[in-house]
Amino acid sequence: MDHLPNSAAARDVSYLLHPNTNARKHEKTGPIIIDHGKGVFVYDDQGKEYIEAMAGLWSVGVGFGEERLVKAAAAQMTKAALYHLFGSKSTGPAIDLAEILVQITPAGLDRVLYTNSGSEANDTVVKLVWYYNNAIGRPLKKKFIARTGGYHGITVASGSLTGLAVNHRGFDLPLPQMSHVTCPHYYRFANPGESEEAFSDRLAAELESKIIAEGPETVAAFIGEPLIGAGGVLVPPKGYWEKVQKVCRAHDVLVVADEVITGFGRLGTMFACEKYNIKPDIIVLSKQITSSYQPLSAIVMSDALYQGVADGSDRLGSFAHGYTATGHPVAAAVALENIAIIRERNLVGNANEVGAHMQALLRRFSSHPLVGEVRGEGLIAGVELVANKATKEKFDPPGKVGTYLFGRAHRHGLIIRNVADTICFCPPMIITRSQIEDAVSRFSASLDETAAWVSAGMPPE
Ligand SMILES: Cc1ncc(COP(=O)(O)O)c(C=O)c1O
Repeated sequence: MDHLPNSAAARDVSYLLHPNTNARKHEKTGPIIIDHGKGVFVYDDQGKEYIEAMAGLWSVGVGFGEERLVKAAAAQMTKAALYHLFGSKSTGPAIDLAEILVQITPAGLDRVLYTNSGSEANDTVVKLVWYYNNAIGRPLKKKFIARTGGYHGITVASGSLTGLAVNHRGFDLPLPQMSHVTCPHYYRFANPGESEEAFSDRLAAELESKIIAEGPETVAAFIGEPLIGAGGVLVPPKGYWEKVQKVCRAHDVLVVADEVITGFGRLGTMFACEKYNIKPDIIVLSKQITSSYQPLSAIVMSDALYQGVADGSDRLGSFAHGYTATGHPVAAAVALENIAIIRERNLVGNANEVGAHMQALLRRFSSHPLVGEVRGEGLIAGVELVANKATKEKFDPPGKVGTYLFGRAHRHGLIIRNVADTICFCPPMIITRSQIEDAVSRFSASLDETAAWVSAGMPPE
């Protein structure tokens, strides 16, 4: 790192606590400071160019430096930098966006509640469902069931729904109302010889047993990402969503689809619910809703839920929930323009077509000695590295090899993300075929260098 006492790197180390970072390690290594971006590229403060193959945090769908979004934000800031939605106040952008979200999300989702991040949205979903069940006279029906490997954020409730030990350790999570069932990852958790359908049957049966053991009168909702993102890009096995939804319906358990990563085209359909035939009671949206140019998230719920909540608010005098920035007009204006760009430029079609190319190119690495599984859908993919292809044995310690590859990719001007030893790709949805080929060839060089380092016994760098 740069040791000049007043350099940006040194001041970063002096003043910042970084999220999802080893603070002590960071004190030694310092930051990589990203200065600006254009299209699928970002540039650090030393002028080095990177292909941003993670779209920031799975989110900058229309790419960096999109002037239309800048103009939309500036225009709304000039008009009214903030007006809130409390106590029946409203704004044009918040209304227009709600109408569009109801139109484009799956049928049966009719009402929008805004929040500001994916974590806040899922936290609010918990409160919303609790409030609803109180309002309709089911005060015991409060538990949420999620999946190990799932990611729903890091606030107290959403962090409890997240099924990753790293997000629980040290934080006294999860809350007692939240529990988890088996991760729907066929490669890792299917029994030998079990078909995908049979695996899905087994997971649905597990969910049903869990609901019965907890008491169906106490289980409010089941939440899942249609395709798990931050847990390592895990594609659901065949029939999974049909089967788990059937179980939920049989026990009057709400289905919550967390489309924070998959929403707005990532899988080659506007929403992943379309792809996997999910008919949720609640859908959760964020990230690509504004391409992360502004913080915004939205909960779109069924009319039945809304009616229960509305009756409850009438009885209690108010739906006493909301944030200063709920439905922020600048964020809503940016979302409207962002969704217009996604539609005009057919970025959903691009995710489908260029995504298929990316999937095909990455699947060529299936025979690489370090690669256990290549998986994904549309413009999101994961390449899982293993110590032993035949036994699927993981590296020990987990994450060491993935982190090494992450570093090599940086040197090749490629930003990917390693979830332990799974290398994730989630590029901006504007990416072209040739840019994908460029990213994959940088990955290929990084993978080969990693394989050589593993063969050499993983010496310290
Ligand atoms: C599926 C999913 N839900 C929720 C979240 C949390 O969103 P945020 O980081 O905006 O709080 C994420 C973030 O990656 C996510 O992938």
